[in-house]
Amino acid sequence: MTKNFPPLIIALDGPAASGKSTLGRSLADALGYLFFDTGVMYRAITWIALQHDMDLRDEMVITGLAQNAQIDIRPPSKDDGRACDVVIGDKDVTWDMRDGSVDANVSIISAYAGVRTALSEQQRRIGLRGKVVMVGRDIGTVVLPEADLKIYLDASAEERAKRRYHEIIARGDQADYDEILKKVIERDHIDSTRAVAPLRAADDALVIDSDKISAEQVLTQVIALCK
Ligand code: DC
Repeated sequence: MTKNFPPLIIALDGPAASGKSTLGRSLADALGYLFFDTGVMYRAITWIALQHDMDLRDEMVITGLAQNAQIDIRPPSKDDGRACDVVIGDKDVTWDMRDGSVDANVSIISAYAGVRTALSEQQRRIGLRGKVVMVGRDIGTVVLPEADLKIYLDASAEERAKRRYHEIIARGDQADYDEILKKVIERDHIDSTRAVAPLRAADDALVIDSDKISAEQVLTQVIALCK
């Protein structure tokens, strides 16, 4: 299939805390494209389920929730590091969705086929409009296999845990590095071994290891591919 150059649809996948969101935002800004972090959708469903004390192990119930939930993703209303506002009902859940209980449970619901179908369809509709940098785990493999440019951003679990740790401390919260590392490894395992849309690089993705180069260098490298 012919690919557009410059790329109109950019898929950016990789494990948790590999720097995808930072790269995706900067890249979208540099190109004047929409930045869409699909992880917020999985987080929003998890947050709603926890708020309503729903049984996360009940696949049918959680799938029903994903099919019907009204998750509103809007341009950022505050300059507090957010890429967008995530609003459910009339509540801004942008930061609530990033808390430890969501982190600990989001992999469970993102392994459900029905949840993935419901959310992937919405993501695909947005992606096909073009001029988009879409970030996730399965964008290049499942959501937008026709993407013009696919990047898989990787980093070791230790480096990613270190980044998460510093992010939490910078927000003024308490953090325990060993605990974070354990959770990163656990989440990688669930995300990459699930039956549906497991985390993996698409065959035609460019794999970048961000352990060895700085975020700025990664951005320069990717922008060079787009221009
Ligand atoms: O990128 P993140 O940490 O905000 O993602 C939260 C969770 O959502 C993560 O455990 C994997 C899942 N996810 C997914 O399965 N597919 C996506 N396209 C995006 C995220």
